[in-house]
Amino acid sequence: MPDHSTLAPFPGSAIPHVGTYRRVLPISLERMYENTLDWEHLPHVHASSFASIRCEQAGTWGWRAWTTDHRGFDALIELRLDKTCRRWITRNLAGRNKGAEIWTHAFPIAERRVDIVVDFFVPDVPEDSREKVGLVYAGLYETLYDEDVAMMTERQKQLDQRVGGRNGYPREEQQRISLGPRAALRLPSITRLGGREYVVAEVSGALVVYPAVCPHQSGPLARAELNDGIVVCPWHGYGFDVRTGDCVTGQACKLSNLPRLVETGDGELTLVRR
Ligand code: FES
Ligand SMILES: [Fe+2]
Repeated sequence: MPDHSTLAPFPGSAIPHVGTYRRVLPISLERMYENTLDWEHLPHVHASSFASIRCEQAGTWGWRAWTTDHRGFDALIELRLDKTCRRWITRNLAGRNKGAEIWTHAFPIAERRVDIVVDFFVPDVPEDSREKVGLVYAGLYETLYDEDVAMMTERQKQLDQRVGGRNGYPREEQQRISLGPRAALRLPSITRLGGREYVVAEVSGALVVYPAVCPHQSGPLARAELNDGIVVCPWHGYGFDVRTGDCVTGQACKLSNLPRLVETGDGELTLVRR
């Protein structure tokens, strides 16, 4: 038998444990891992907690990034995903809360149901304050997971619809759909064509069409405001010019294969797939 008393403790266990947050989420483990590696969503989906993020490194192992909160405090955060142990560990390497570690373990209890246990380790907290600090962390994580669950649920819905695809729609509707007279069209309007949803809106007096879901990771573009022809996705902040489809925030992403709006002489509008 090896003498375990001589082994060094895990780094996390060397820092005082201040509390635990536990919750069952209606989400698959796959979506959880995807969300964990997705550093880009922090200042958008969690806008009340993060003002900005600058990624230094990212991969299937996790990511390391500088974040700023709304009071201007910076923190260098590193997240490491360990799928073998179904866990990820977040460490504050520098800046605010330096030394703090958050260990999350995920236990799938059904295909789309996962029990998560989040342990908070924070250095330099006196023993009689640990419970209070732990409750603050738990409250923060409650909010973060509320926001993440909304995002992950919506993304799962979009992925399920993509798999279901065009089933159930008459063939002709998949190629074209009449929108009626332009004068009667209430804008913006959402129209389904070929199993996908599109927003029809007006920019400087001209009609434009763009997808209701974002080409990046299926974020809800239809729920974002359209300002001067630019729509900004609420999940990762990619901005698109709906007149050209171009991404105006620099990411390699584009609104493409958009249907055409055809207006006949009598003012009837039809949306036609390309
Ligand atoms: S889903 Fe990522 S920017 Fe839209
Ligand atoms: Fe998140």
